[in-house]
Amino acid sequence: ISLRPYNTFRIDAYAKYFAKFTSLSNLEQLFDAPFLQENERPFIIGGGSNILLTLDYNGLVAKNEMHGIEIVKQDQQHVYVRAAAGENWHQFVLYCIENNFAGVENLSLIPGNVGASPMQNIGAYGVEIKDVFYELEAFDINERKVKTFTAKECEFGYRESVFKRKYKGQYIITSVTFKLNKQPVFNTSYGAIQQELDKMQVKELSIAAISQAVINIRQSKLPDPNKIGNAGSFFKNPTIPQQQFEDLKKEFPQIVGYPAKDSVKVAAGWLIEQCGWKGYRKGDAGCHAQQALVLVNYGDAKGSEILALSSEIMQSVEAKFGIMLEREVNVL
Ligand code: EPU
Repeated sequence: ISLRPYNTFRIDAYAKYFAKFTSLSNLEQLFDAPFLQENERPFIIGGGSNILLTLDYNGLVAKNEMHGIEIVKQDQQHVYVRAAAGENWHQFVLYCIENNFAGVENLSLIPGNVGASPMQNIGAYGVEIKDVFYELEAFDINERKVKTFTAKECEFGYRESVFKRKYKGQYIITSVTFKLNKQPVFNTSYGAIQQELDKMQVKELSIAAISQAVINIRQSKLPDPNKIGNAGSFFKNPTIPQQQFEDLKKEFPQIVGYPAKDSVKVAAGWLIEQCGWKGYRKGDAGCHAQQALVLVNYGDAKGSEILALSSEIMQSVEAKFGIMLEREVNVL
């Protein structure tokens, strides 16, 4: 079966077997299936929005279709909402906005599913999932039982968690519980948000207004995966020592960087653009014309072609700036 409908890069890679699971018992059954014993361990796919498939998969690809959103508890200030991993992320954000649960509005329109959100600690416009995360449940593939992880146990970092590193491939996230605010704490620290709110002529700030501002910004520079295949930022923004940044600034006064602790986070999009890649296209693989950090598939690019383009970009950024970019997307 072709995996093209199941990855936002729209890569036409193939899986030998494919299944969808809608409940925990479904998932358990899947792992007990006898034919699995002789094959590669199942590969779990959620929204498919952060993967680049470079090969066919000679085993089972299983898609998480577990649904449901429920309030598990609340106190005066907070409401704890549990969402099943197969829920679409943006639909979940809209549910929160409708119910006046604040905290995820800055994360509007991020492609993918709820289950993938803690995996790489999704973030945008000044907010990361770790800021609203309470706990998650995950199925342990080896022990065949569900384990609960607190925020601390997830070891969240910039686009990082234990699930991307030391527990890679060991757990399947089945639900995530968020701790949301009944009284909103607005975060408009990211410059572009305030500019957009001004443009929208918003008189009274609300989570719905922030969400709309974020949607407008994203739509203006990020390609819609339903039209052009992509997986959002392909690279991370690299962090470099303060001194290295100062030295680069002498040579490249326009370089964009933000202070991080004892170091500087550099805008990779700017570095890539300076190397001349923005809007570049080779075959159907390209670098997005509005945001150089995003690689795109214009139609029939192979995963290997996108990967090769990303390597060329990394080499040229390293040659010009002495900075090694790191891929953010999971390459399979
Ligand atoms: N820039 C350029 N050229 C480009 C792209 C960016 O010069 O082609 C400059 C911009 O002018 C700006 C700076 O780089 O000064 C930052 O750009 P932007 O606001 O677009 O954000 P980003 O750092 O490129 C990060 C996240 C995005 C997230 C935005 C907003 C990473 C890897 N990416 O991008 O996340 O939406 O900030 O918070 O941290 C994703 O992870 O998939 C993603 C889209």
